Amino acid sequence: MPQWPNTLKSLAWLGALNYGLAAFQMNLTTFSFPTTTLFGVGALGELNGRSQRLGIKRPLVVTDSGLINTDAFKKLVAILGDSSRDKRWFLYSGVHPNPVEDDVRQAAAQFTEHQCDAVIAIGGGSPLDVGKAARLVVKRPGLDFARFYEETDWTGLAPFIAIPTTAGTGSEVGRSSVITLAATHRKAVLFHPELMAKFVILDPELTVGLPPKLTAATGADALTHCIESFTCPAFHPMCDGIALEGVRLIIRSLPRAYNNGKDVDARGKMLVAAAMGAVAFQKDLGVVHSLAHPLSTICGLHHGLANALCLVAGMRFCAARKPGLYRRIGIACGLDLMKSPHEDADNQTISFIADFLTSLGLNTRLREHGVKREQLDALVAQAIDDPCHKTNAVPVTAEDMRALYLEVL
Ligand SMILES: [Fe+2]
Repeated sequence: MPQWPNTLKSLAWLGALNYGLAAFQMNLTTFSFPTTTLFGVGALGELNGRSQRLGIKRPLVVTDSGLINTDAFKKLVAILGDSSRDKRWFLYSGVHPNPVEDDVRQAAAQFTEHQCDAVIAIGGGSPLDVGKAARLVVKRPGLDFARFYEETDWTGLAPFIAIPTTAGTGSEVGRSSVITLAATHRKAVLFHPELMAKFVILDPELTVGLPPKLTAATGADALTHCIESFTCPAFHPMCDGIALEGVRLIIRSLPRAYNNGKDVDARGKMLVAAAMGAVAFQKDLGVVHSLAHPLSTICGLHHGLANALCLVAGMRFCAARKPGLYRRIGIACGLDLMKSPHEDADNQTISFIADFLTSLGLNTRLREHGVKREQLDALVAQAIDDPCHKTNAVPVTAEDMRALYLEVL
């Protein structure tokens, strides 16, 4: 063994110590971006061929009643064929806007009754979430949603195909399913990679019929995903890059899709941006989503609208405690903030987002959507129990939640 001079020994030891400390400080992280996504006008035409390659013969189509009469659904039927004639596919269309446990159980019952072999979910985030989770209930009919994490065997779930008709939740590329529990009326987040889709179809033509209000609200959800995931403190530079490009696409495309629903280019970019937002939030979310979830379960607000109404207040709250947090979001929005002091960069970014939401008609207050002051206690109790704020850029207390709700009431 070589005899090193004492100084070299010390340097080597210091180097090893530094390396060891650096390695110790960095948490083990998993990066996953696996979903096969077919994107483009006419992508829906790929459905049958891709399904056949997976051996799918009797899919259950999961959607909500509002979608049945839309052109998007008619396009799907034209491709799948007339189900009443040859019984090659079956339909469950009872999904609620904020999906409940019973939706999942009913979809699973239909699946079993008709001996289906796959789920094709078409619609917004709700049918997609129900479609994902129904496969688990098919396998475990007595599943207790509140204790889903005790499930140890996730193998053998039926294949799942996701076809979004809104550009917002990004549920199509997510590995979670958000379902309101029957017992507690709280949202449970089922989470497992096996919940993911075998493939996703992003066809902009399926979203051209989405009304401006829903276009704005769903797009605001996607924007909130990108902003909250980017500012969440976890180490995930891949998600950070995706979130920033998602912000850029949304800022450029959402006003166009809102003002002219038939702008297929803008619709396409919003579909991709929404999927990017959901990919980014595998990194995690923040306080705005914790404020938004109870607004849906208790007051029935659309999830995207709830986020939009809380976003600016949530950003102000975080920026006050972590100056400079939104500089790169602002730059992604097209603002020149490279040399601005932290506070100025945050203020300009937050003002830009506030004006952006106003231009989409999303500058209303909670009370204009039926939220009452008497509901504050219940809202705060659920918000503080919600897991999203645990990964917020800064810590949040119940009193903070109350103040934030009051600010936007
Ligand atoms: Fe969301």
